[in-house]
Amino acid sequence: MRRLISALVAAAMLVAPAFVSAVPVDDRDAFITELLSKMTIEEKIGQMHLPAYPQLVTGGAYNANIDSLAEHGLLGGIFNILDVEGIRHLQELAVEKSRMGIPLLVGLDVVHGYNTIFPIPLALASSWDIPAIERTARIAAKEASAGGINWTFSPMVDISRDPRWGRQAEGAGEDPFLGAAIARAMVRGYQGDNLSAKDNILACVKHFALYGAAEGGRDYNTVDMSRQQMFNVYFPPYKAAVEAGAGSVMSSFNLVDGLHATANKWLLTDVLRRMWGFKGFVVTDYASIAEMGVHGFGSLERNSVAALEAGTDMDMTSDAFIRCLKNAVDRGEVTMERINTSVRRILEAKYDLGLFRDPYKYSSGDRDARKANAADAAFARRMAAETFVLLKNQNSLLPLKPTGKIALIGPLADTGANMVGTWSVTAHGNYPSLLDAMREAVGNRGEVIYAKGANLYSDAHIEAGATPGKFAMRDSRSEEAMLAEAVAVAKQADVIVAALGEGAEGSGEGSSRARLTLPDTQHRLLEALLATGKPVVMLNFSGRATVLTWESEHVPAIMNVWFGGSEAAGAIADVVFGKVSPSGKLTVSMPYCEGQIPVYYNHLVTGRPKRPDDGRYAAYTSNYFEIPNHPLYPFGYGLSYTTFEYSDLRLSSDRMDADGSITASVKVTNTGNRRADEVVQLYLHDVERSLAPPVQELKGFERISLDAGESRTVTFTIDPSMLKFYNYNLDYVAEPGEFEVMTGGCSDRCLKASFNYME
Ligand code: NOJ
Repeated sequence: MRRLISALVAAAMLVAPAFVSAVPVDDRDAFITELLSKMTIEEKIGQMHLPAYPQLVTGGAYNANIDSLAEHGLLGGIFNILDVEGIRHLQELAVEKSRMGIPLLVGLDVVHGYNTIFPIPLALASSWDIPAIERTARIAAKEASAGGINWTFSPMVDISRDPRWGRQAEGAGEDPFLGAAIARAMVRGYQGDNLSAKDNILACVKHFALYGAAEGGRDYNTVDMSRQQMFNVYFPPYKAAVEAGAGSVMSSFNLVDGLHATANKWLLTDVLRRMWGFKGFVVTDYASIAEMGVHGFGSLERNSVAALEAGTDMDMTSDAFIRCLKNAVDRGEVTMERINTSVRRILEAKYDLGLFRDPYKYSSGDRDARKANAADAAFARRMAAETFVLLKNQNSLLPLKPTGKIALIGPLADTGANMVGTWSVTAHGNYPSLLDAMREAVGNRGEVIYAKGANLYSDAHIEAGATPGKFAMRDSRSEEAMLAEAVAVAKQADVIVAALGEGAEGSGEGSSRARLTLPDTQHRLLEALLATGKPVVMLNFSGRATVLTWESEHVPAIMNVWFGGSEAAGAIADVVFGKVSPSGKLTVSMPYCEGQIPVYYNHLVTGRPKRPDDGRYAAYTSNYFEIPNHPLYPFGYGLSYTTFEYSDLRLSSDRMDADGSITASVKVTNTGNRRADEVVQLYLHDVERSLAPPVQELKGFERISLDAGESRTVTFTIDPSMLKFYNYNLDYVAEPGEFEVMTGGCSDRCLKASFNYME
């Protein structure tokens, strides 16, 4: 076999450098060994080099002439190139002009869709619909692969307990169990069963590790954390993605306990590879190695070696490896063996993608990545509707009748571009606005009248940050003039729908907020609308948990609609007018005020807990003067247009052995008068153990559909693996004793039972 490969390689190289097309595909190791033996050190380091294409720049990048790098085999991949012809051109240079003819990885942040844009990840998580989330990733892979992309920087699985951090939008929220389920689903969706299929792409789990725990919620900031918290709370989604076979991992660009994550051997090698068995390659985040110097770690040379030795395989946009590693080898600071290990991992990914067999399989242009697909669009609309969380619905104000005069007011009412949210690099921005969709839904049965009412922010500079480029929509009129117009329109209406909140980039990378309430100008608008005395429905657009305390006291109906993607407008109209009942449940706790952060449901208790947590101050207990300890809207919370009643929680036994399991079943009844979906949640609480136990932890959930009046018994199996945690010594154990079981439609409204676990 080896001789055969050599012969083929040699023969192919005689006619053209592009020997790769003639290579047998059944022996990956032999093929790569052969390839490595023929590569120069420059070509090897070239494989470890990932510059950004200048089409899309999100930070300080150091990019040389990409064409020339491709032609000389000094490029492992490229990212942020959006047109298939450009990708094809670079691939041709790499495959047909470079000496070794090694094809390129082509990356992009395909985070929640490519042509069909789905809701932002935090919204997707609020659906708790794992098969549907997997399908969003599948459709994204199908479309992105047709557009030349073979590698996505997704899923982002960072746990976030701090909504000041704008990147909460990109993850699944605060819970490790749900986060892990979503991480697995996304990896499956992107990579499918077989990476070499034409419409599967390589996933990249990010950001390893703990990026979501940035101090003060300020992006890129320091993280300091106990190992117990890492293993029990923050690590499970990364681990799940690795176990699901994710082909690559992106390290994060924050400090972890004083070391940079990019040069943290414990994280990148001990945990990721030794403990979790990761076999793919590790890429840095954007300019990460270069930024190490800014953190105070010294020269690029030093940091290149440190990153490599820690377990980094590919350098994104620092130009660090390509500049420094050869000298480091010459100086004896780095071995060729270490370089070969990284290059092998990168070549393995290319091999698994089938690029050596057909380097143009993604860039042949034979499929139209932009072709409208009615079935996918219909699915995106249904999916978006599943993500909305109804927070308040006094006197069943929602759903609205599509009759009479409806005033749609607010800065987010007539902007199609802002519906898609952050990381929508491939979005064209020309989507239907809510105004379009509501007018279409109402038809000639009623009338939707409109006024913008306010800009997003009084401060134009902040607004430009929250709605850059294609999302921009600033109105040059004075605040007073806009407000007066809005009030005049509102006064004519029977009901007011206020479309308020954040601009599409108001959450996302670099979009930290210290105040999570509605910006002042929008707040004044809302007050003025309420002062008309008309019923007001508030639609809150956000990429994070925001503070809605004032609104929860004054506005009769509030629904969080996040950023719902290309079909968001129609989906919102579907829910507002009652075609679909809302069924989303929060995966982040919504705080009373910023001073409560971090606030999350799976917390520990103090020695002086506040019982009851009623918001009334009690001396010498753990509480605040002004607010309760619990959040305004907790994890798992979300209303429906119907009501669900939980009853008959039953355990199959009140004891469980180490090799046994029990079931917990609960009866759920739709007690309202319309069919709707409900997310049934299962929590466990370890009553007594060696490491302080959280008050409850999600351990199961099921999304069900019930007709009016229908009941269903939902059954969860509980086994010892669900009782395990990392103890103080980081052993993964289940300790004997009492466990509480809680089920319900929200973390704070559960039926309870308990059992004893015996070893
Ligand atoms: C920086 C971001 O942190 C990361 O999520 C993204 O994948 C890269 N830039 C590439 O765009």
